[in-house]
Amino acid sequence: MIEIVNLKKSFEGKIVLRRVNLKVYDGEKLVIIGRSGCGKSVLLKNILNLMQPDDGYILVDDVPIKMVGQKDLFILRKQFGFLFQGAALFDSMTVAENIALPLVEHTNMSQKEIAKKVAEKLEMVGLPGIEKLKPSELSGGMKKRVGLARAIIMDPKYVLYDEPTTGLDPIMAASIDHLINELNDRLQVTSIIVTHDMQSVDRIADRVVMLHMGKIIFEGDLNDLHTTENPIVHQFVHGKMEGPIQPKPVKY
Ligand SMILES: Nc1ncnc2c1ncn2[C@@H]1O[C@H](COP(=O)(O)OP(=O)(O)O)[C@@H](O)[C@H]1O
Ligand SMILES: [Mg+2]
Repeated sequence: MIEIVNLKKSFEGKIVLRRVNLKVYDGEKLVIIGRSGCGKSVLLKNILNLMQPDDGYILVDDVPIKMVGQKDLFILRKQFGFLFQGAALFDSMTVAENIALPLVEHTNMSQKEIAKKVAEKLEMVGLPGIEKLKPSELSGGMKKRVGLARAIIMDPKYVLYDEPTTGLDPIMAASIDHLINELNDRLQVTSIIVTHDMQSVDRIADRVVMLHMGKIIFEGDLNDLHTTENPIVHQFVHGKMEGPIQPKPVKY
């Protein structure tokens, strides 16, 4: 379980996360929604320890991550797979080399073992046999799948997705959502998915939280989400998905 307690993060005096409290339970698919710029990616980066909170703390399986030393940090990181917003593949490397990167850097596995593992993950994301292709030969949806194969190469316990369907056409988006569901079941992982695509929310979520003005203003299942009377959540769910207005900086 991941437990986020009183998390606070500001940038140059501008509060992004004011006080976030959140539990992520084992095996669930938790979707985080919220308008552009509300701090969803910042929250994920704090969970991954890529960014440190100003205040508050995060427990991963009861261990506070800020207490983890350099050596244990790797053990902690290994538990997380992360699909970045832009898939972030290296263009000069083949698909197989991209996926194998964490194994090459952090394990003593032989070439043969690595190749087997890569093939297994490619099969899992529905792209068997494309090891030798270069990222430039892939469609947007395929790149996301390859990014996902890399995210799960170390057999993580938690998989975090930042806007996994952004930039994809509706059919590809649906197939990525389907894959997220399938992997969650098949790998028995816990998934945290950040999105502002309501269709994705409906396809994926076991539970939904909405981040707004630095706090979680809604927590519930899909039924709760669709029947809430909270006007801000209601507008997000039923109205425009993403407004052009950036949220105002939160003041003390
Ligand atoms: N490294 C950073 N330095 C300064 N400001 C940042 C940094 N990362 C994010 N921010 C700011 O924090 C706010 C939330 O960003 P982000 O979490 O990326 O939003 P989103 O909900 O769209 O993912 C934005 O106003 C952004 O400009
Ligand atoms: Mg973001």
